[in-house]
Amino acid sequence: MSTTAIVGTQWGDEGKGRFCDLLAEESDLVVRFQGGNNAGHTVVVGDEVFKFHLIPSGILRPGTTCLLADGTVIDPRVLCSEVEELEARGIDTAGLKVSGSAHVIMPYHTVMDRMEERAKGEYAIGTTTRGIGPAYADKAARIGIRVWDLIDRDRLARQLALALPRVNVLLEHLYETETFTVDDIIGQLEPCVKIIKPMVADGRALVMDAVANDAEVLFEGAQGTFIDLDHGTYPFVTSSHPIAGAATLGTGLGPLDLDAVLGIAKAYTTRVGAGPFPSEAFDEDGDRMREAGAEFGTTTGRPRRCGWFDSCMVRTAVRINSASSLALTKLDVLDGIETIRVVTAYELDGELIDYVPSDPEAFARCVPVYEDFPGWMEPLEEARELDDLPEEALNYIEAVSTLVEAPISAISVGPEREQTVWVEESDEE
Ligand code: IMP
Repeated sequence: MSTTAIVGTQWGDEGKGRFCDLLAEESDLVVRFQGGNNAGHTVVVGDEVFKFHLIPSGILRPGTTCLLADGTVIDPRVLCSEVEELEARGIDTAGLKVSGSAHVIMPYHTVMDRMEERAKGEYAIGTTTRGIGPAYADKAARIGIRVWDLIDRDRLARQLALALPRVNVLLEHLYETETFTVDDIIGQLEPCVKIIKPMVADGRALVMDAVANDAEVLFEGAQGTFIDLDHGTYPFVTSSHPIAGAATLGTGLGPLDLDAVLGIAKAYTTRVGAGPFPSEAFDEDGDRMREAGAEFGTTTGRPRRCGWFDSCMVRTAVRINSASSLALTKLDVLDGIETIRVVTAYELDGELIDYVPSDPEAFARCVPVYEDFPGWMEPLEEARELDDLPEEALNYIEAVSTLVEAPISAISVGPEREQTVWVEESDEE
């Protein structure tokens, strides 16, 4: 039995959802440990497409317990509508648990998110406007509302009375918009509280028990390494830690409790929102990736910026996350491209480097150095084993693995569950 974390090694949208779904089949417990409904995990099951923003994709596997752990931020209204939607589609949500220690995205957080973005003008981050940043800011300022408070009317009223004066001053005087009252908020959230209350658990105890009992535990990361609050391209980042370390931090386990980390890397690179992106392709290749890869945000519908695979980024992410192996996703999107480019180094102020500099302004000055690979002219969608892939695709996969210094354990060639090529571990060391 083991614990595995799945994390994004780029800017998010790497296709984590499908691997979470695949690994969830063998899991007793699937845990989201950071972020909130800014995520968008798409899982395709036959003719059905499920888009998850908050609930772990493990909910599709009957009998699996799914937990929104301490490190997440939860918008009660979104949680209830996702539960309702899943139930309406015949998915049993009885296994869903919510940690009492998770923080709550309050109605005023989403308003603040929109207002803060507007006020930043040309320096806007391009957030999902779901209230993620303001909710984490209140958590750090120790005026956040936790799920424990949400489900107890007196506690909620007390905490809101502490938080609202500050919030209302900003809303009224800085953003010149409507303010909130304790009663309004309690009234608004009441129907959701009824639905959520039975799901609330001591998340830390639940995860610790599972590990102590040798259960199979899967940690479902959302977003990606380079929008990590500390290790991403600050300030163009999210307000949580979408890296493997947070799988322990956000749940209450210790750092040695993780047995494996599966990094997810798309066979090219995408980014939503603003910020540096050295390998961005502004030409027809970029457009082709966007169209063939349906690169439009699951949460916001925004077109994603597209570019070539950047091995400096993914190698840096492999180290940040101690990734034991990588899954390379959406390889089929590169079908029919004659020359496939890969970033192998950056030229920064006249010097060659092979990692992502932690100063984002230095990163923005990085000029990518490319190596070109011949593409494959046939569709990959039917491949199920390595032997089914053309030589050019195999060469590309091998080059990527060497450059990022991690074995590739799986490759996806289409959105369906079975469009996955699992790579057997080689016995040679
Ligand atoms: P926030 O997480 O809504 O505060 O947005 C901060 C930045 O993270 C913005 O650039 C968003 O586009 C980006 N972001 C947030 N969630 C995701 C995700 O799941 N995938 C990709 N980008 C994301």
